[in-house]
This record gives sequence, structure tokens and C-alpha cells, in this order.
Amino acid sequence: MKVFEHTPLAKLSTIRLGGVGQYLIECNSMEEVISAVQFTKGKQLSVIPLGGGSNIVFPDGVLKSVLIKINITSFDLDEDCSEVTSGAGMNWDLFVQKCVQAGLAGVECLSGIPGTVGAVPIQNVGAYGQEVAQTIIRVECLHKETLKTKAFTASECLFAYRDSIFKCNDNPWIILNVKFRLKTELPEIRYGELKNSLNHKLLDHLSLQDKLAIVREQVIVLRRGKGMVLSNEDPNTVSAGSFFKNPTLDKKEYSQFLATCEQLNLGKVPSYPNGEQTKIAAAWLIEQSGFTKGQIYKGIKISDYHALALVNIRGNTAELAEFVELIRSQVYNQFGLLIEPEPVWYNTDGQRINF
Ligand code: EPU
Repeated sequence: MKVFEHTPLAKLSTIRLGGVGQYLIECNSMEEVISAVQFTKGKQLSVIPLGGGSNIVFPDGVLKSVLIKINITSFDLDEDCSEVTSGAGMNWDLFVQKCVQAGLAGVECLSGIPGTVGAVPIQNVGAYGQEVAQTIIRVECLHKETLKTKAFTASECLFAYRDSIFKCNDNPWIILNVKFRLKTELPEIRYGELKNSLNHKLLDHLSLQDKLAIVREQVIVLRRGKGMVLSNEDPNTVSAGSFFKNPTLDKKEYSQFLATCEQLNLGKVPSYPNGEQTKIAAAWLIEQSGFTKGQIYKGIKISDYHALALVNIRGNTAELAEFVELIRSQVYNQFGLLIEPEPVWYNTDGQRINF
């Protein structure tokens, strides 16, 4: 286990914001994670497990915490039952690539998403009609206080849209590894944008491996077009992905919302059924509230490609917070809807900030 002091936080998050972290510990095994947690005892510091840093906002100033970077990168495939167990520190896109190469389906639409395997259960990562709740069957964790391990079944994870039991303020669990049960046939592609762009490429005579590779490639092309694939060459990718969740409305809220849109004469509203509820495109709400792609507020910008992503051009966290509040209040004034930030946001005491 390696211990670093006063680490610049910007290099640990894809939006490259934040001051310095009091301690950063890198761990290559569960034993090292246990030693890292023991190291914090008596120090009155919170413990923050760190994945790829793609969905996290650090505070300006000194973060009084121990950041634990988990580098456990195992990939154990049981071909007989299409199950894979992967270490929390494995790069997510590499995991997807390995599944696709093994001819296993169920995560190919999640290609090109930054972060690590251990991060995906936390907010039930999803894109293009797939979410990890559809394939995860077990999440093995370490309790920060008791140092006991627990294997959560999928139902115990309480997965919901961009949410799970692990995405709460006082989550005591550090994720060590995740087990997936994948599929041996291509799931139906329902997401319009992806379906249309695949056209007739998924020819019947192709093997499952080939079909999965085609879907993976297409997803990456689409994501890249929205600045959602990390790249040193594209400044629009200095972001935390989608910055706001798409609000979900029940029947009554939805009809009120449609009435507001009609009064405003806004034409077709991009919305999608989500179980009993209806999901509204937050990117559209933002644009209809007077913001534009590429708009700059101090050192923060709305992505040139996608209104849901906020990009750090030369800003700090305080400026990001101001811009987020401005966007939220303008959307609220226009539509009466409060949009919620999606990334996990910490204050200098290492406590999660609620919106
Ligand atoms: N739209 C706009 N302006 C824009 C972009 C989109 O008005 O600048 C409208 C369009 O009407 C579009 C609709 O919003 O049809 C939906 O856009 P998109 O298909 O890009 O999806 P999204 O809802 O903005 C979600 C996820 C993404 C995921 C994509 C693709 C959330 C918060 N975000 O975005 O996930 O990649 O779908 O499936 O659910 C992430 O969570 O970080 C993330 C990138």
C-alpha cells in the first residue's frame, strides 16, 4: 500500500477540479484496503473510495479525508454460466471490451463510459437502453467501520435510475469486486438513436462476437460525438459526464408539465416512458430555459456538444457550484422542476453535499 500526502485533487477527477487531498492511499488487494482503513482510525478523517474519478466533484481547499484508490483489477470468467467477477479497480471500458471479445452480451451499450467496475453499481450506470442493474448479480463490499465483508445480491443493492443503496450520504461500504451474469444472445436494441445508426449492420449471418463488436464501436462513435469519451485532444471531455439526472414525473406531474410546455408553445417535448413514470430530457429543459451549448460562466462551460455536460475550462468548484445553482433556478422558474446533479459532490470535511 502506498500513502501520499497533500495530493492535488484535480488530477484525480475527470472534471479536474478541487484543491488538495490530505491523504491518498493506493491499494492493490483487499488486505491493503483493510490496512488503509485501519490507517484512518483515530485520525477523525472520513474515508472516500475512489474509482476513475469520472463522477465526482472535489471541493476547493483542503479535503480532510483519506482517499482510497482501489487498484484491484482481476477478471475471472466462468464460461459455463457466462458469469464474470471483476475487481473494483478494473477500468470499466476494458471490462466491456473483454466481455465483448468473449462473446458475452449485456454491457456492450455501456462502451466508452469512463470509470471503474467498482463505480458502476453505485449509480447504476446506464446508457443506450442498458443499465448495470440488468446484469449485476453480486457486489462484494468491505464495511469501513467493522472491516467485515458482505456480498450484496442484486435485489439488496436497491438499484433504481442512477441510484442504489451505495449512493447515500453515509454509505459505509467499499466495493471490492462485482459479479455479472451476462447473456449469450444479443439483447434487442431499443434506444432510437443507436438503433437508427446501426441500420442494417447487424446481419443475421454474423457471429454474436461480431455483432457485439459492431454495437460497441457504434456506441463509442455516438458518445464521442457528444464529447462523452475521454480524450486529451478534446477539451469538452474535461467534465463529469451528464451533470444532471433526467427528472422522472408521475402521471399528474407530467400532465402539469405538458400544460406548462403548451403555454410556452415549446412544440414536441423529448420524454421517455420509465415504468409508471415519464423521464424528461434534462438537456432539453436546460436549453429551453435560456442556456445554450458552449455558453460560458466564469471558468465553466456548457459542453459544445451536449447541454447536459458541464466542462471545466479554467474554473474552480465554487464557480461550478454558482453555475449549477443558476441553471437549476432558471429551469425551476421556467418549468417548476428541480433538476438534481448526478455526480457525487464532497465538502472539505469529506461529507457529501445534498441538493
Ligand atoms: N437533448 C437536447 N440538447 C442536447 C442534448 C440532448 O435537447 O444538447 C435532448 C434531445 O431531445 C435528446 C434527449 O435530450 O433526444 C436525450 O439526449 P441523449 O440521448 O443524449 O441522452 P441523455 O438523457 O442526455 C442519458 C444518460 C447518459 C447516456 C445517454 C445515452 C443520464 C443522466 N444520462 O443522457 O449517461 O450516455 O443517456 O444513453 O441519464 C452519464 O450518466 O454520465 C451519461 C453520460
